[in-house]
Amino acid sequence: MTQFKTLDDLPADLSGKVALVRVDLNLPMDGGSASDVTRVEAAKPTILELADKGAKVLLLAHYGRPKGQRHSTMSTSWVQGDVEEVIGREIMFIPEVTGPVVEQSIGILGDGDIGLLDNVRFWPGEEANDAEFAKAVAAHGDLYVNDAFSAAHRAHASTEGLAHLLPAYAGRAMEAELKALDAALGNPETPVAAVVGGAKVSSKLDVLTNLVGKVQHLIIGGGMANTFLAARGVDVGKSLCEHDLTDTANTIMDQADHAGCTIHLPYDVVVAREFAANPSSLRTCNVHEVGTDEMILDIGPQAVEALADVLKTCRTLVWNGPLGAFETVPFDEATVALAKTAAALTQDGSLVSVAGGGDTVAALAHAGVKDDFTFVSTAGGAFLEWMEGKNLPGVAALEQ
Ligand code: 3PG
Repeated sequence: MTQFKTLDDLPADLSGKVALVRVDLNLPMDGGSASDVTRVEAAKPTILELADKGAKVLLLAHYGRPKGQRHSTMSTSWVQGDVEEVIGREIMFIPEVTGPVVEQSIGILGDGDIGLLDNVRFWPGEEANDAEFAKAVAAHGDLYVNDAFSAAHRAHASTEGLAHLLPAYAGRAMEAELKALDAALGNPETPVAAVVGGAKVSSKLDVLTNLVGKVQHLIIGGGMANTFLAARGVDVGKSLCEHDLTDTANTIMDQADHAGCTIHLPYDVVVAREFAANPSSLRTCNVHEVGTDEMILDIGPQAVEALADVLKTCRTLVWNGPLGAFETVPFDEATVALAKTAAALTQDGSLVSVAGGGDTVAALAHAGVKDDFTFVSTAGGAFLEWMEGKNLPGVAALEQ
C-alpha cells in the first residue's frame, strides 16, 4: 500500500489551527431527518480527535447533486441536526464555503469548536475541480483532512484539489477503509473469494474483468448469474438475463480459466412464474430444469452449501451485491445463509471479510451480520470503482 499521512502525523496541539475536513454527509433522508447515519458515525472519531486537539474543525461536504447552483432543498443545514446528535456537540452552520462569511465564522468559533459549511456542490468550481475555487476554500484552512472514502472516486475540489494546496491527511475512517481494502485485494491472504451479485453484468463488467485476475474464486449471483448460465447454454426461461452479453460472459470465463480463477455458478435455483413475495408457483430445481415460463429469483440450497464449502477454504472474502432478489421473501434466503457463513468464519478468525455497496450493506444488515464482517465499507460508487481496480483520485491525492 502506498503511503499517506494520517492524524498520527499531526502535532498534539492544534490550537489556533483550522482543519478543513471533507466528510460524506450525503445521507439517505426520511422526512426531515436521516434514515441512516452510518457515514456520520464513521467520521465521528476524526472530527472529535481534531476538535479535542484544539483545532477549529470546518466540515466540508456535498449533499445531493445540485449541479453548481444553490438549492434550498440540498443545503447541508438539513443534516446539521443529525450530525450534532451523532457527534454529541453543538455545530455552527456556515451558509458559504469561501469568503468573508466563512472568515467571520472562523473568528467566532473557539478552539475545538465545529462548523458545518454549506453544500460544496452549490459552487460549479467544486465538480470542475477549479484551481481558483480550490484556492479560495483552502485559504480558510491550515490543514486538510479527507475522511470521505465514499466520495474519493470524484476528482472534485474538496476531494482532490485541496490535497495539493494544504498539508493533507487521511482521517480515521479513510485510513480504516484503505487498510481494509488493501487487506482484501491489495495484499490479501490467499485464497481469495469474491461474491459479485446484482442485476446486470453490464453494470459490473469492469469489476468482473478486474477480479478474475485477482481472486481464486469468483462467485456470481443475482441476475448476473443468469447471463453466465445462458452463456453456458442453460435455458433460463423468462429470468432477467442480458442475452446480448453472453459473448462477454464467455470471454470473462475464458479469462478466468487462464488466470486460474474458478467461476462459481449455481447448480440449483429458486424459481417462480411471477415475482412476488411467497408466490404459489415457487419451487427449487436444477438449473437445467427451469421452465420457459419461470424466472430464477435466487440460488438454491445445494449451491449455497457448495459456496459455504468454498468459503471455508478461503482466507479472504470481498463481497458486493446480493445473490438473489433479497428484498422479497423468500428470495433473501441464499444471501442470508451465505452471509451468515461468512460472518461465522470471520468470527472464528479464519476469514477476512470485506463488503461494500448500498445493497450489500442492506443485505448484511437484513441477515443480522453487518457487525460480524471484518469491515463494511460506507461507500457505494467508490467501492465499486475500487473493485474495478481503478485509481481513486481522492485517495491518489493523499498518497502524493
Ligand atoms: C455517495 O453517496 O455514494 C457519495 O456521496 C458520492 O455521491 P455522488 O455519486 O453524488 O458523487
